[in-house]
Amino acid sequence: MKCPEIFLLLPTCSILHEDRNVIDLVLLLAVALTTLNESAMKTLKDYWSSMEAPMMSKHICMWKSALAFLLKANVWLTFIPGMKAVLEVLKYLYKCNKRVARSRKVPLSEFYVEEIGLSPPLLQQDVTLWRQLKWGQVQEGDNLPPVFCRYPFLLDLQSKINIFNYDAAITKITHSFIHDQVTAGLFQNLYTQAPTPIILLRLRRTALLEDVFRQLSYADHDNFKKQLVVEFVEDSKQTDVNKRDFFLHAFNELLAPESEMFMYNDTQTMIWFPSQPKVESKQYFLFGILCGLALNNSNIVHMPFPLAMFKKLVNMKPTLDDMIEFRPTVGKSLRCLLYDYTDDVIENMDTTFCVHWDGVNVELDPQEKGKPVISANKKEFVDAYLDYAMNKSVERVFEEFRRGFYKVCDRDVVEFFQPEELRGVMVGTEAYDWDVFRQNTVYDGQFHVGHPTIVTFWEVFEELTDEQKKAFLLFLTGCDRVPILGMEQVRMSVSVLPNSTQNHLPESLTCHCILMLPQYNSKERLQSKLIEALKHNRGFWRE
Ligand SMILES: *[C@@H]1O[C@H](CO)[C@@H](O)[C@H](O)[C@H]1NC(C)=O
Ligand SMILES: *[C@@H]1O[C@H](CO)[C@@H](O)[C@H](O)[C@H]1NC(C)=O
Ligand SMILES: *[C@@H]1O[C@H](CO)[C@@H](O)[C@H](O)[C@H]1NC(C)=O
Ligand SMILES: *[C@@H]1O[C@H](CO)[C@@H](O)[C@H](O)[C@H]1NC(C)=O
Repeated sequence: MKCPEIFLLLPTCSILHEDRNVIDLVLLLAVALTTLNESAMKTLKDYWSSMEAPMMSKHICMWKSALAFLLKANVWLTFIPGMKAVLEVLKYLYKCNKRVARSRKVPLSEFYVEEIGLSPPLLQQDVTLWRQLKWGQVQEGDNLPPVFCRYPFLLDLQSKINIFNYDAAITKITHSFIHDQVTAGLFQNLYTQAPTPIILLRLRRTALLEDVFRQLSYADHDNFKKQLVVEFVEDSKQTDVNKRDFFLHAFNELLAPESEMFMYNDTQTMIWFPSQPKVESKQYFLFGILCGLALNNSNIVHMPFPLAMFKKLVNMKPTLDDMIEFRPTVGKSLRCLLYDYTDDVIENMDTTFCVHWDGVNVELDPQEKGKPVISANKKEFVDAYLDYAMNKSVERVFEEFRRGFYKVCDRDVVEFFQPEELRGVMVGTEAYDWDVFRQNTVYDGQFHVGHPTIVTFWEVFEELTDEQKKAFLLFLTGCDRVPILGMEQVRMSVSVLPNSTQNHLPESLTCHCILMLPQYNSKERLQSKLIEALKHNRGFWRE
């Protein structure tokens, strides 16, 4: 088995993809592979890196099905020698795949092993063990089960979100659960129970940001990991509705030009950190805390940053694509400069290392003012431009932002996410699928799918404009964007508004996604009342 070519050949044999050969062949193969000597390993990695995508897929598939087989057989509680080796092999493949050119890359989703996410006890045990190892409460050792959290590339988005939530809730899991689910004394003395402490924000609606920033800046930093409770001075009910209301309006105010916190792209549709901040850098620290709180409290917020911001949060370097997203004209011309223009064209363009960014001129090479861009230094120019726009010019404020964000959220868990996923989880998507929305709706009390009011309601709903439908989603859920996992996540329940007359407006309970509808006696009335409700009622935020 010391000849590395064998490891390239075997995964293409279909018998190795069969369940009955997992224990006797695939696991042994994994162990043999992970114990290869350095030079054989190097040869193997070179082979992998030169593979075309379909072949790579075949390899991934074999190792994945072995893993899936073991997971389905429920053997993850016991220690199986080859299982860690399979995980390690997948990690090698993942790393090789990351390095190859885009055209030969296998999509990241091919690495997902859905079976990991299908078992909540597995995920919970895994998070627990992972945290214990992290804090040195359990020693590393050969007889521990594998820790999937160490292989986040295997986790699909739903699993990552679940892990994030377990990690957040872990102190609330009771001893009994652990004893039921998990063998050995491994998992004891972890959960010191105390009533969940809270961080309370008491705010005036009329001075929302001022109050938030003041209270956050006085708060003890240890408090940020606690449960958030929002109370409005005007009506001191403490509910989830307040929280959604709060995030919705706080972010709207933050992103408005009056807050002076961000720079915008020319169409004012995207924001970025400014190179000459007009407000104190502490504000960005507090903004980071707010974003962390929104994520930790599963609140989708409106935050039109380019992907670059989410890359930076998980320590990835922005690229030209990110510039193209934020400033398409600048980005595309840089791309042409790099790849399309001939040397002559470049010399004739008279471009210099002096660029205009966020309202000021910047010398990208401070050593040589007005240095011309020629084909020999075009790469240096593009790199310097990107580094200035996405890194240097925002370094101080971004660091403050990041510091605040990670005061609330757990860095290790956040870094599981790909930047696209993190953006999706935080800001939602615009994948409105109103058919799914309708199919998932349930009815309560007197209402049922064939009830005349319900039939009329859907007629009216279908006739709403796209904007009005979004306003309806906002009215219903407190947020007008779709959760990253899709419209399936929004399950409306419709019930009769108690004691209502023809003159009442429909109401909503945003925290439970309930629409409360009076039994109107005509379509016209239902339509006018619904539209009226959407117009001047943004959730429970009554002005
Ligand atoms: C601003 O960003 C949006 C989103 O990427 C883009 O569609 C738009 O073209 C940008 N506007 C300008 C003028 O750069
Ligand atoms: C960002 O800029 C700083 C200097 O301002 C530099 O030290 C650092 O390496 C840069 N980061 C990246 C990811 O290039
Ligand atoms: C999120 O908040 C909870 C309390 O609600 C806290 O226990 C936890 O540490 C935070 N979790 C993460 C992942 O940031
Ligand atoms: C509805 O009216 C009945 C009597 O007409 C009353 O007992 C009940 O409390 C009312 N319910 C609500 C929710 O106002």
